[in-house]
Amino acid sequence: MISSLLIQVFDPVVHDRSSFDCGVPELNDYLAKRARKEMSAGLAVCCVASLASQPQQVLGFYTLSAAVIVRTLLPDSLTRKLPRYREMPATLLGRLAVAKVAQRQGLGGRLLVSAMSRALQASEQVASWALVTDPKDQTAVEFYRKMGFSPLDDSRMFLPMTEIKMILSTR
Ligand SMILES: CC(C)(COP(=O)(O)OP(=O)(O)OC[C@H]1O[C@@H](n2cnc3c(N)ncnc32)[C@H](O)[C@@H]1OP(=O)(O)O)[C@@H](O)C(=O)NCCC(=O)NCCS
Repeated sequence: MISSLLIQVFDPVVHDRSSFDCGVPELNDYLAKRARKEMSAGLAVCCVASLASQPQQVLGFYTLSAAVIVRTLLPDSLTRKLPRYREMPATLLGRLAVAKVAQRQGLGGRLLVSAMSRALQASEQVASWALVTDPKDQTAVEFYRKMGFSPLDDSRMFLPMTEIKMILSTR
């Protein structure tokens, strides 16, 4: 288990973005070349995890952005009592990755809890009904399913903010 973990908004002056390797080139490239630009452009907020003793070494990261869910994709049981808006406000967990050296030690779970907590806090200022994500492969689907997410359609998964509140209150 990784201790003394810092999870902070990505700062290219502090965090070394070039040496991160999660095994997926597209996600490595995102941190190295796109995260800073997307933050400046207001497209995503990127948060990175590192050890307090080595803050420059990125062990994992995630991004959050605003999104919508088309209401008709949701199960009737969840929307029956809600107004018939075509789209529901949501928060997109766009990317989440853990460095190969730190995988299978619980860091992905801790990053996800951090993302949930940040999304929940933000939803108190700008409403968001759920966290949504687009898992890249079956490993990622399993990872999110274990953390409580359900399929929304063929590619997207979701977790309502009410459930996030419950999950976080038991921690
Ligand atoms: C998917 C990923 C984020 C998981 O991070 P991690 O730190 O290794 O995951 P954790 O140690 O927190 O594991 C939590 C649970 O997820 C599931 N899980 C994680 N990696 C898994 C794998 N390779 N195969 C099957 N299940 C896996 C397991 O249920 C695991 O619990 P367990 O270890 O008690 O069995 C990480 O492997 C990664 O960055 N992969 C490359 C990028 C990627 O696929 N990102 C997903 C976003 S689309």
